[in-house]
Amino acid sequence: MAGAELRILPAVAALALAAVAVTAFADGDSPPNENGYEAWLRYRPVEIADPGLAAALRSIHIAGRGPRIAAVRDELSAGLAALLGVPPAIGPDVSESAAGVFVGTRTELGRSLPDSVASELDDLGAEGYVIAATANDRNAVTIFLTARSDVGLVYGTFRLLRELQLRTGIANLPVVESPGLPLRMINHWDNLDRSVERVYGGFSIFDWPNLPERQPRYRDYSRLMASIGINGIVVNNVNTYKGGRLHGWRVVSDEYLDKAAVLAQEFDRYGIEIYFSINFMSPILFGDLDTADPRDPEVLAWWTHRARRIKEKIPNFGGFLVKADSEGELGPHAYDRTHADGANMLARALSTVDGVVIWRAFVYRHPGEDDVSADRAVQAYQQFAPQNGDFADNVILQIKHGPIDFQVNEPVSSLFSAMPDTNLMLELQITQEYTGKDIHLNFLAPFWHRVYAFDTHRDGAGSPLHDVLRPRGGSGTNWGVAGVGNFHDGLNWTGHLLAQSNTYAYGMLAWNPRRSPGVLADEWAALTFGGEPMVSATVSDMLLQSYGIYGKYYFPYGLSLMGWAGGAALDGNGDRSRPDPYRNIGRYHQTDAAGTGYDRTVATGSGYVGQYPLPLQSLYESPDSCPQEMLLWFHYLPYSHELRSGKTLIQSIYDDRYEGVERVKSLRDRWLSLEGMIDEERFYHVLGKLNLQVSESILWRDVMNGFYLDLSGIEDAEGRVKAGDRPYRGLRYGDGPRPH
Ligand code: GCU
Repeated sequence: MAGAELRILPAVAALALAAVAVTAFADGDSPPNENGYEAWLRYRPVEIADPGLAAALRSIHIAGRGPRIAAVRDELSAGLAALLGVPPAIGPDVSESAAGVFVGTRTELGRSLPDSVASELDDLGAEGYVIAATANDRNAVTIFLTARSDVGLVYGTFRLLRELQLRTGIANLPVVESPGLPLRMINHWDNLDRSVERVYGGFSIFDWPNLPERQPRYRDYSRLMASIGINGIVVNNVNTYKGGRLHGWRVVSDEYLDKAAVLAQEFDRYGIEIYFSINFMSPILFGDLDTADPRDPEVLAWWTHRARRIKEKIPNFGGFLVKADSEGELGPHAYDRTHADGANMLARALSTVDGVVIWRAFVYRHPGEDDVSADRAVQAYQQFAPQNGDFADNVILQIKHGPIDFQVNEPVSSLFSAMPDTNLMLELQITQEYTGKDIHLNFLAPFWHRVYAFDTHRDGAGSPLHDVLRPRGGSGTNWGVAGVGNFHDGLNWTGHLLAQSNTYAYGMLAWNPRRSPGVLADEWAALTFGGEPMVSATVSDMLLQSYGIYGKYYFPYGLSLMGWAGGAALDGNGDRSRPDPYRNIGRYHQTDAAGTGYDRTVATGSGYVGQYPLPLQSLYESPDSCPQEMLLWFHYLPYSHELRSGKTLIQSIYDDRYEGVERVKSLRDRWLSLEGMIDEERFYHVLGKLNLQVSESILWRDVMNGFYLDLSGIEDAEGRVKAGDRPYRGLRYGDGPRPH
């Protein structure tokens, strides 16, 4: 290969390289059945129109060695064979052939990498990659996939294969990519007995009882996560004890490390580090100390020993995730110490193995207290904001997007504006605890996109959340995003097949928070259902409408915690998928005969609004300027309050719920229009879910409207909700314990 005479193919020429779909089934037949296991890595046949590109893709040269290079080779070999219908020739040699795909780090490819391609790597970090194509005079196409590290090659490999699946060919060359957020994590709320908390795609993927036996699913899971850029996985639930009902704290005991090492090896092939949720009381739970006081040198020594022991067994150990002084999981407050005292002690222990401590900010009262009148929303800020700057460099504070608990239409937490000298992680919930379980279609990317873009005003106007996760003036990489995962051991991983789109979008936004939700929906639909334009366009449109539709029949205008059903989740602690608006009156919403909402204003309410920088305070303090979708989150308003539409609040609540149900029905109609274009197995699976969604949305409509009629005594102007005709009046689900 003679580098000097090659010309880099520009974007416009590369369009000619586009691939086209190969229809794998005869006209009139449904496509072959699929169960959803392959998710977005389906690799169905495409036809490569350009002979130069087709020839290049048949000859793959991979330089280097090691587990990630093996992963690259396996993926290219299987992926290209399936896409092109013929297995590519794969070899290590980078010097003899003129055409082909050349894969290797800059060091490994050495002089065979044209300078113009190599120089693109100059400004990229370790995880970035470049894909560039060159052609010589005889139109022999050479594609270079290069990076500074082999992790970058893993990401680039999935990108190349994705572009081929999307049939863009490689339309926008050169591709020069690196991630926007350095830590892109999945948090599993999985227990060691494989039960799971608030997740609906089956039991845990991680089969602890049978580990260290390897299962193919571990590798497939790692591939799927790496393909969307995930680089850290917490394998066990943040609740590690729960009053003695869980034993997740054992995951870092010697008994479990050999098991975890197998998962870690699978992850490592794909550049993913493994993290563990630990219990702050471990020195006592493990039985050899009688204190876990962070100021006690023996406690520090105990954790340091543990950290080293883990690292010995698991070289790609990333660190600990800690839920402490929260919902009964004990922490440093048991010893009258602060969060920073606790986190920094663990951080010292982990600094010996280059690990991080991810400390959750999800706290709302100290154990033992049960002041139901206190506004939960104000509490995390009260505890953490004064500790800004107190945390060690290898501590990251993980903050849920909203101050309550993953509610639909919560405001972005005030803490993001208040911790400029602290490493931060945004915590999102991919699993649909409050956003529809495995029943309701709810594509969360538009919502997450808004969260990332939210102007925190931390450094004045123009401080979007994705920028303020990094501490002011900081140059380190200890910050990012964590998503509570929805991938489990069910056949299609997520329960509702279309819920896979949320994990896909989560990863893609973590890589680049500026990506458009519309493009992500299009991509996911095309990757999952093939490139038939009518199918992709319909599915994508259904995804994009779904969040708004859900909001129409769920809690109105940002109200919190109006749903509950005791005892339904696998771990027996319930899920939130059923309407139960009576349960939390007074605690999470102040609905009564005169009005509804929660007053969090400075003037008359809990004062939460005062935790924001001034411009945001003015926005939220008045119902006139407050964004309407969060109106009742911030304000208690009379039923007669007039909304921007000119309608009263109570009438809008009634109307929205009717509109919501109609729009769910229209989602189902859209899906029905695809009959015959999607394989029957996936078609009927999704149709079944949409049928359920219709009936569940009717339940929500009638329970919520019945509740509001019951409390307000005001009938619906349209005559649909009227006294004496309240099918669900006073209905409550479960008489089990309160949520917390
Ligand atoms: C929610 C959720 C719990 C979870 C908690 C947390 O309250 O319902 O199951 O443990 O959040 O984030 O720690």
